[in-house]
Formats: sequence, structure tokens, C-alpha cells
Amino acid sequence: MIGHIFWMDSSEGENGDELLHVTYGTNAHDETQVDDSQICVVMVGLPARGKSLIAQKIVRYLKWLSINAKSFNVGSYRRADTPQPNAEFFNTGNTEGERMRRAAAEAAVSDMLKWFGEGGHVAILDATNSTKARRTWIKGQCDAKGYECLFVESRCDDPDLVLSNVLSVKTSSPDYVGQDPEDAVKDFMARIRNYEKVYQSIGDEEQVTFVKLINVGSQVVINAVQNYLQTRIIYFTMNLHITPRSIWLSRHGESQYNVEGKIGGDADLSVRGYAYAQALPELVAKSVGDAEITLWTSTMKRTIQTAHHLKYPKKQWKALDELDAGVCDGLTYEEIEEKYPVDFRARDDDKYNYRYHGGESYRDVVTRLEPIIMEMERGENIMVVTHQAVLRCIYAYFMNVPQDQSPWMEIPLHTVIKLTPRAYGTQEERFKADIPAVSTFRAKYASANMGAGSEEATENSGAPTEAPAQVDGVADAATTEAKDAIIASAVAANDVAKERG
Ligand code: ATP
Ligand code: F6P
Repeated sequence: MIGHIFWMDSSEGENGDELLHVTYGTNAHDETQVDDSQICVVMVGLPARGKSLIAQKIVRYLKWLSINAKSFNVGSYRRADTPQPNAEFFNTGNTEGERMRRAAAEAAVSDMLKWFGEGGHVAILDATNSTKARRTWIKGQCDAKGYECLFVESRCDDPDLVLSNVLSVKTSSPDYVGQDPEDAVKDFMARIRNYEKVYQSIGDEEQVTFVKLINVGSQVVINAVQNYLQTRIIYFTMNLHITPRSIWLSRHGESQYNVEGKIGGDADLSVRGYAYAQALPELVAKSVGDAEITLWTSTMKRTIQTAHHLKYPKKQWKALDELDAGVCDGLTYEEIEEKYPVDFRARDDDKYNYRYHGGESYRDVVTRLEPIIMEMERGENIMVVTHQAVLRCIYAYFMNVPQDQSPWMEIPLHTVIKLTPRAYGTQEERFKADIPAVSTFRAKYASANMGAGSEEATENSGAPTEAPAQVDGVADAATTEAKDAIIASAVAANDVAKERG
């Protein structure tokens, strides 16, 4: 779809020239229409094969990419009438059970079709959909309205993994609230056996578009992919894994530009920034232990310097570079407010979509981060040292933060965020270094001279250490050893200052 101008105005440029600012987006600029297809992703598989987890991840990924996506979980519809069925309910010989399960599936499909009618883009039909007859019926419903079907089958024949899934997520399911966990496990295993009696894996004769993820993607079979969006969804599911791991996120240490309140640039760290770099190995070690970890930075000096003392395999990504502020690069917020007042206001009005003249918007950053997210899903323990805007986008992906809020999140300097994906949701821990830093956060509609550049008093306690002149000395210092010596004295000075209160 071709973008439509949704915002346009002008303001006076640096040389008194009039600058025209035009930002492009789609009509409903909360959605990126990659193509015109509407897709029903039909989950297929026995119970406890990770279908709901995969469904939720697809929704989160697509919504992060501004694609309108929604999951329709047939179990929730069934629960409205039968909140706590026992295994016998799922026995195909049980006529009443069959009738009620069919009714739940029909209600979910009916709501899904209605949602498509209102412009929904990708629906996930989350149920076992374990028989050919059920799948043929779903496909017929979608074909009649012109919606595509993509079947995603999760197969797993590892009994230990299935049991571990049942133990970890099924005993706490609403189906078993208030019941003895041991009885719940037995009943759930009996439920699985009832499904096994009738389960049919997708066969070639069904002539449908499908991806089969066998034993958590150790084998993948793909059939008849039709378009780009389907390819993206399939590729995403292929990268998912369930190996326990964590992701560590940190902004670079305080930079010289941070101290001066300037945005963008490629400045060196300040003295306190170098102190953070030096403190980082100990800070990270606390929560990493012996785990193997890969470290990613941007290509900018301040993230590379921050990662300097971390002894993990390193990789630099251009895609992790900070949001490009275009003509405003190197200016302070005060200067931007003064030179480009209309832009300054427009960015606060819609920070996610506002694109700096000659630069980027948050939406642009998300687009270039897609391969990073894909690699993060595929990988295991990863630490990312990057920049404020980029970190907000990555954090928003993992924590499901809506677009209108993500650019306004406070992600302080000198803090490591550890994210650990769990079955449903992500656990977050924060580790703060006791090294003060300025705050680069400016609240929506706050006057420019009240926000960024002020001391991060509430976040990182302790006395400030250096005058800018000293920082320049560090920036010019030829060797890491020389910088470390300066840092050591800065940290010592800081300790003395703290002791003095
Ligand atoms: P049900 O049919 O009962 O709703 P389900 O197939 O939707 O079950 P989930 O509730 O999503 O299963 O199960 C989550 C569990 O499955 C988690 O413990 C997760 O680690 C595990 N899991 C995730 N992906 C897979 C996979 N591809 N194969 C097997 N297990 C997986
Ligand atoms: O048994 C697992 C489950 O998720 C139930 O909660 C739900 O009722 C059912 O699968 C939905 O799938 P189907 O309609 O294929 O039985």
C-alpha cells in the first residue's frame, strides 16, 4: 500500500530557510499494511505442544511490526460453558462433549470472521484443530470470505518434554484451579490420550499452506507458501525455541554528549561512563554466572567503549545504532525547541511516528530492528549494549509495550535489565550500578530545559565526579590503561564524596 501524507507543516531552518516537514504513513497509521492479504493462522497439534505460546508470540511480533493481529483461543470459548471439564469431555465418543466443543469452535470462528470484516489482518485460531474434518471446515469458512489459511502444526513426540510442559503450565491452567496438581497431571495426560485417538497430522492430500514444526523446530516442513507475509510468519515460528535463556540489555555508559544534553552524535564516554564500563563485568557476572553469552553492540563508540571490559564474544550491528535525529543531530532539546518549534511539538504529539527531518522515527527503528529481533529469538544468552531509543524498541517487543507508550519509557543510564522469557510472559530484573549519570529523559510536553541533562538523582545515587574538562582528557587519552587510571581516580573521588555525605 502506498503511504499517505498525514502530517505536513513548515518551520524556519537554521539559515532562515523554510523547512517543509512531511511524514508519511498509512491511512490508519497504527498499522503497517505489508500486503492486502488477510490471513487465518490455524494452529494444529495435540495438547501441551506449545500452540498457545507460539500463537501469543506471533501476535506480539506482528503487533510490534504494526500489523493488526489477534488470537482467538477456542479453549477460552469452551471455558465459558464448561470451565473445568475432565478428560472424558474430550473423548470423541462423548456426544455432549463433542457438541459443546464444536459450539466453542464455531463461536471462535464466527468472532474471527467478524474481526476480519472490521479490517483485522492476521488472526490466529488457537485450538488443537486435530482432525482433517475440522481443518477442512475452517478452510471452507475462510475461503468463502477470501481469507487465506496458513496452518502451523506443532508436533512433539518426546514424552519427557510433553510431561514437563504439562507440569509447568497445565496444572496452573484455569481448567484445574483449586484441584490437586497430581490429579490435574493425570487428567491432562488422559485428555491427551483422547486426542491421540483421533489426531491426524496435516497430510499432503489436504493441499493447504502449512509449516510443521517437529520437536521444537529440529525439523521443519513447509508447503505451498503464497506470499511475503506468510513467509515472515513462518520464518518467525522457525526461529522460536524453548531452551531456557536470558537477555541482558544496557544503554551505553554516560557519554560526553549526554553530559552536554546533546542528542545523536558519536561521542566518547564521560568519565562516569567509563566507570560504568569498568563496573559492568562485575554487575553482569552477578546474574550471568557461568552461562555462555554473546555480546552485541552498535557501531558507535559509546557502546563499543561500554562493552570494552566484558570478555564475551562480541558482534557489532549497524542496525543497533541510535535513532537518526537528522537535522537535529548534535543539538540539545532546548536548541531544537528554539530552532524547530513546530517539530518539537509535533514529536511530542506523536513520538512513535514523528520522523526527524533527514532522519528516523521510532517506527523506522522498529523496521530496521526486525532482523535483530529474529536473531534474538533464534539465539540463547545475549547481552545488547545499545542506545535509548533502540533499547525502548527492543524492550517494547519483549514486554509487549504499546507503540504510543514505548517512546516515553524511562530506561535509565548505568542500569542492566535482565529479561528471562517464561512460558507465558517475561520476567524482568534490573541491576543498577552505583555510578551516577545524567538523566536523558524528557517527559511529554515538558519544557526542554527542565528534562534531559539533569542529574539522575533518583535513579543513581552518589555524587557527581567530573568537570567537562576532565572528560575531554579521557576522550583524548590514547590507551585504555590511561582511561582506566582516570576512571579509578574518579571512582575513588566519588567514594570519598559519598562518605562525606
Ligand atoms: P493446549 O492444547 O492444552 O492449549 P498448547 O499446545 O497450546 O496446549 P501451551 O499451553 O502453549 O500448549 O504449552 C506451553 C508449553 O509448551 C511451555 O512449557 C513451552 O515451553 C512448551 N512449548 C513451546 N513450544 C513448543 C514446541 N514447539 N513443542 C513442544 N513444546 C513447546
Ligand atoms: O485441550 C486443549 C484445548 O486447548 C482445550 O482447552 C480446548 O477446549 C481445546 O484444546 C480446543 O481445541 P479443539 O476444539 O480442537 O478441541
